Amino acid sequence: MTFHPHLAKLQPYPFEKLKRLFADTKPDTTYKAISLGIGEPKHPTPEFIKQALIENMDGLASYPLTAGTEALRSSISQWLARRYSIPAPNPATQILPVNGSREALFALAQTIINPEKCENGLPLILCPNPFYQIYEGAAYLSGAEPYFANADPARNFAPDYSSIPEEVWKRVQLLFVCSPGNPTGAVLSLDNWQELFDLSDRYGFVIAADECYSEIYFKTEAPLGSLEAARLLGRTNYPRLITLSSLSKRSNVPGMRSGFVAGDEEIIKNFLLYRTYHGSAMSPMIQAASVQAWDDEVHVQENRSKYVKKFAQITPILKEVLEVDLPDAAFYLWAKVDHLNGISDTEFARRLYEQYNVTVLPGSYLAREAHGINPGQNRIRMALVAEVDECLEAAQRIVAFCKGLITN
Ligand SMILES: Cc1ncc(COP(=O)(O)O)c(C=O)c1O
Repeated sequence: MTFHPHLAKLQPYPFEKLKRLFADTKPDTTYKAISLGIGEPKHPTPEFIKQALIENMDGLASYPLTAGTEALRSSISQWLARRYSIPAPNPATQILPVNGSREALFALAQTIINPEKCENGLPLILCPNPFYQIYEGAAYLSGAEPYFANADPARNFAPDYSSIPEEVWKRVQLLFVCSPGNPTGAVLSLDNWQELFDLSDRYGFVIAADECYSEIYFKTEAPLGSLEAARLLGRTNYPRLITLSSLSKRSNVPGMRSGFVAGDEEIIKNFLLYRTYHGSAMSPMIQAASVQAWDDEVHVQENRSKYVKKFAQITPILKEVLEVDLPDAAFYLWAKVDHLNGISDTEFARRLYEQYNVTVLPGSYLAREAHGINPGQNRIRMALVAEVDECLEAAQRIVAFCKGLITN
């Protein structure tokens, strides 16, 4: 048998690494287990979305189109226009539904990367570091290599793109950005976008903006989106830009697998061609329920206000013991731990699990060693996805644990 040679380059998922880290550790089960590990929404799915699924089962009798229904593309277009104060993108040419942003991030690399075009080695996909692990797999399996740009805490976790050498830029065909970022929660500014657009104009690469956390934020102003930034900077037709978004976090429906891509028409056209062969049309009932979800903002505001209250309560408690701040957006706290007697992120996670039965994710599992450092090292990611009481309980145990680390 033969297999794709790059499959061997795929790293175990962070949760696999965590399982190994905890393999010989027994948690104190006098405490109920609480996980802040997995970044999966846990607030309930709104009833009207469940009802819409039930009411639209008739569509199952026919094959859906890969391009989706006009109703869905038009509802997404209207949502983009309302959310980002931009003219409604053309639903026929600038929008495609996808089965969650994860598959689209992966498939996009298959569409964009041209291994025959690159001189001096394999094509590169520029990834933030730390990052969502799909970017790396998408790079390897499209015949490219990831090039990691380390998040810089001094720049609100944006990488220092100006430090990347010219020879590297010449090989970059696709650049992933994640704003709001997982795990940092940081939102890119208009200046950050200007820099990225200038680089894309100069070197010709495509920018894929992963914006699946855009609706969970803690400031009065909603996070700036890539299409919005492009319009503000006069880039009317979104050249070489594609944005990816999703209902998973916005509407608490990760199981529905519903998202979209929008932007540059030529990319959308080629992506649609790729997707018809890949067979990634969205189920008709999911499409119908998605229309209702994109059209409604009330449940999104309610969801956001739950996160706002939760983060306002939890962050100050953890700030007593950890180096942590309220992020711009998303549902993670990205905390530094090494001031606690030099403890590493992995040791922090292991001992917290052992002593207090609370799971957090070591930051180094979400990043790669690049340019001499692993930028996730000495940090932990806490996903505040559970209801507030459970998060509060976890925060109190973390405080007790950290106080123990200082005194021991
Ligand atoms: C940064 C980031 N992008 C994309 C996704 C995928 O989300 P979905 O496929 O549910 O849209 C996730 C999921 O956790 C994520 O954290």
